[in-house]
Amino acid sequence: MFDAPAKSAPLRIEIEASADAAAVEALVLAAFGPGRFAKTAERLRERARLAAGFVAREDGQVIGSVRLWAITVGGEPALFLGPIAVSAASRRAGLGADLVQACVDHAGGEGILLIGDLPYFGRFGFRPAPDLRLGGPVDQRRVLWRGEVEPSGLVQAA
Ligand SMILES: CC(C)(COP(=O)(O)OP(=O)(O)OC[C@H]1O[C@@H](n2cnc3c(N)ncnc32)[C@H](O)[C@@H]1OP(=O)(O)O)[C@@H](O)C(=O)NCCC(=O)NCCS
Repeated sequence: MFDAPAKSAPLRIEIEASADAAAVEALVLAAFGPGRFAKTAERLRERARLAAGFVAREDGQVIGSVRLWAITVGGEPALFLGPIAVSAASRRAGLGADLVQACVDHAGGEGILLIGDLPYFGRFGFRPAPDLRLGGPVDQRRVLWRGEVEPSGLVQAA
């Protein structure tokens, strides 16, 4: 299902399996509702390769999910994070943080881009990336980056 096996995951987090796809879709739909994401993020995901996915389970049910997509930023390889969702009943117990950590661990030295809320993602080292250009309309304040270099240039699916 993915380009390469995920390298590691925090204890409560598992690597997403092909059989999880429907449960992940249902979880994301419940968390965001229909017409849920910035269209620009959806367009990017439609064209990008799925690089890794992580889930949290309870009694065999998927209660948390995050995915990483292969992109380039200014021509350099990077990862696009999203969507991330935790079921409403399981929030505020650190699962979201564990899912983000799984992505950070998987990325190694590669930068991670996402479109999301700085008040949530700032705690994981994500910062606004004002010099990035996405291929569509986006609230630039929500374009966040975590990486060793200051990113600039065009974001494209890889
Ligand atoms: C965002 C989400 C994945 C976090 O999952 P979680 O398991 O509750 O995350 P954690 O337990 O690690 O962190 C919870 C904390 O983050 C806060 N938080 C959650 N979403 C936030 C947001 N958008 N902005 C600021 N803080 C946020 C919670 O209030 C909570 O604060 P507390 O620690 O002071 O109680 C979950 O709330 C969710 O699925 N939301 C709906 C989907 C969504 O909006 N995803 C993208 C977010 S931009």
